[in-house]
Amino acid sequence: MEVVETIAQLRTLRQSLKGRVGLVPTMGYLHAGHVSLVAAARADNQHVVATIFVNPTQFAANEDLASYPRDMPRDLNMLQKAGVNIVFAPKAESIYPSDFQTYITVEQVSQGREGGARPGHFRGVATVVAKLFNLVQPHSAYFGQKDAQQVVVIRQMVRDLNFLLSIVVCPIVRETDGLAMSSRNVYLTPDERQSAKILHRALQIVGKLYDEGERRPQVLRQTAWDILDHEKRVQPSYVSLADARNLQEIEQPIDQPLLFSIAAQVGKPRLLDNCLLPLALNTQEGATRVLGAD
Ligand code: PAF
Repeated sequence: MEVVETIAQLRTLRQSLKGRVGLVPTMGYLHAGHVSLVAAARADNQHVVATIFVNPTQFAANEDLASYPRDMPRDLNMLQKAGVNIVFAPKAESIYPSDFQTYITVEQVSQGREGGARPGHFRGVATVVAKLFNLVQPHSAYFGQKDAQQVVVIRQMVRDLNFLLSIVVCPIVRETDGLAMSSRNVYLTPDERQSAKILHRALQIVGKLYDEGERRPQVLRQTAWDILDHEKRVQPSYVSLADARNLQEIEQPIDQPLLFSIAAQVGKPRLLDNCLLPLALNTQEGATRVLGAD
């Protein structure tokens, strides 16, 4: 595995690669969810490039950029074991030189949910992901369903700016008690960690209700609110039921795949979780078709 820090080194290595290249962009502090992205990339490509970059432009001034968990030696060890060929771990100055001034705004699908709670977040994500696509020139790029709105924002950018690559969406990887894996779970105290399971519980119950025939959006949302209400350490930020293709919040039943998503503050971290409805869509194939593909 080659580890490079500069754009010049990355470009030289990239030119030497023959065959399909898969890209797994990360902010480091890796967990089994990231490893599953690498496994999916390996299955489809001859070469896998992973990036580790805590992207400053996707953090608001009041967020945890400075304290975001980092452990480069552990990450490199995990990526090597997972079979990554090249790791690009640039310094912030390489990605954002002092005269940097071009940003990408994906207008509609960036609104609401994470976009509402974290103004500017998706502008930072879209900008850095576009740069990584240009630098790595992958045939496919791999993202986790946990950040479903991020995937839809990136898919829209890929369409709008004619990037020539496919977006593959991998299912959420969970702890044994259901908590969705996230680098920020490390912030949870033991009590908060227990309470955090309720997000997945709410999704399971809503998913079952939907699969059994409940279609009224307000009933599905209210069911989740009522469940989350049982845990005083969990402060929900939103419960969203949207058309999975365009993220429009729905008020009437529609005959389209849906994205049911929840965000909640649990102590320090803001936790996200979601499921596609019907539940059978929560596979790599289903999520890629609904959230990732053209
Ligand atoms: O999902 C993430 O880890 C980040 O948002 C990404 C896609 C690597 C961009 O910084």
